[in-house]
Amino acid sequence: MTTDTLPTESYVFQGTINKKPPHIVSGKGMRMTVEKDGKIYDDILDAVTGAAVGALGWGDEEVLPIIEKAAKNHTYTFPSIIGNKPSEDLAKFYIDNSPPGVFAAALWCCSGSESNENAMKIIRQYQMERGCPEKTKIISRDTSYHGFTLGALSISHCGRADLFKEISIDQTNTCLKMPVCYPYRYQQKGETEEEYSQRLLDSLEKIILDNDPKTVSCVLVETLPGSSLGTAPSPKGYLSGIRALCNKYDVIFMLDEVMCGTGRCNPNGKLNCWESFIGPEDAPDIQTVGKTLGSGYVTIAGVLVGPKIRDAYINGSNAVFGSHTYASHGFNCEVALGVQKKILREGLTANIFKMGNLMGSKLQAALLKEDNIVGDVRGIGGFWSLEFVKNKTTKETFPVELDIGHRFQHVCFENKLSVMGMQGNADGVAGDITLLAPAFIITEEDVDAIVERIVKSVEQLSKELKAEGHW
Ligand SMILES: Cc1ncc(COP(=O)(O)O)c(C=O)c1O
Repeated sequence: MTTDTLPTESYVFQGTINKKPPHIVSGKGMRMTVEKDGKIYDDILDAVTGAAVGALGWGDEEVLPIIEKAAKNHTYTFPSIIGNKPSEDLAKFYIDNSPPGVFAAALWCCSGSESNENAMKIIRQYQMERGCPEKTKIISRDTSYHGFTLGALSISHCGRADLFKEISIDQTNTCLKMPVCYPYRYQQKGETEEEYSQRLLDSLEKIILDNDPKTVSCVLVETLPGSSLGTAPSPKGYLSGIRALCNKYDVIFMLDEVMCGTGRCNPNGKLNCWESFIGPEDAPDIQTVGKTLGSGYVTIAGVLVGPKIRDAYINGSNAVFGSHTYASHGFNCEVALGVQKKILREGLTANIFKMGNLMGSKLQAALLKEDNIVGDVRGIGGFWSLEFVKNKTTKETFPVELDIGHRFQHVCFENKLSVMGMQGNADGVAGDITLLAPAFIITEEDVDAIVERIVKSVEQLSKELKAEGHW
């Protein structure tokens, strides 16, 4: 049966339904050509690599033969029946490039949401394998994002999660929330970093105690938050304090490094973001990763499992319940491994750490003291954000309907810079940020070009808002 339908420009059911988004035409390295509303924009500098995905940038000549070889080697097998070598090699690569003894095995999947879904189930089965079936509760944070599937939304707290709360996992008895860690807004005047951390840890401990520690299974946080509240580095003692509470109450410590991990923010030229904040003695028991793992060339994400969890399985059923059709896909794993080997060989993790910090410090110097709408510039390594405020002293947010984060994104685009605007950082609804996550191949000239285009866009938007009477 056919029916009359409303007119549409687009047949992709995503974003604005009846309108085509800007389309990519081509790209090379850090630069893209994009078609928007019939107009071609060339030399768009990519300062966010889509959604913090890209490490090698566009069209890396070395990756193309890796893709060709992987396509010849791997069409498909179902991994629970017939596995493949690249999935083993990629797991070994991640384990070997993390501090010794932290990780012992990995599961590969296709998206960050899927990795968090799998981690939730791996932790659940772990508690059953070791004879603790009463441990069911997961504690994550206010203002967090762990993905768009229902399980991942249930451990998230943001506008995107709120929309689906009626069909999410129980927020009172299973997916509990602790306070956000957000120094720019919530560290009090006169409070040291350590004191702020302790205040947050005290609230976490109270939640564990109020909810019967014998039933608490896991505490999880984004090591460096991204789309939820902007890249707020943890204050001193915070992550190690969570580790200590997890040890004290026999709870799994999980880190979500889907957006911030796999080389984006590692100070030692390696992979994990947490190495910027804690030593191996405070490492997580389980960790999710994605995004830069495949650098956009393949759709791959993963769950890294520590020895404690793996051993409980081996001493128990020695089997993982269930699997996804495309888990540990040979093609994805071989390409991701090729990408990661190139990043390691060329020292690109060290490069993004240095260049990203240079970009951040130049932006802080250029924006924070000036009369404009930027209240904060924060981040570490290759992951930074700007927070926009109406008033730099009171940190008052702009009215939600002005949608400043997205408006800034559009201004930047007109100035030939691709960034990601987001809203809701302050309280889940209000607050505006923009995210920066350039490719690891970034040079000092690229840093200067990004800074120049951002400063120009901030000045332009600040002026426009003043003229409109909004600022
Ligand atoms: C911290 C974090 N976890 C999980 C996800 C979900 O990843 P994906 O969009 O690949 O499903 C994201 C996405 O941005 C994220 O930022």
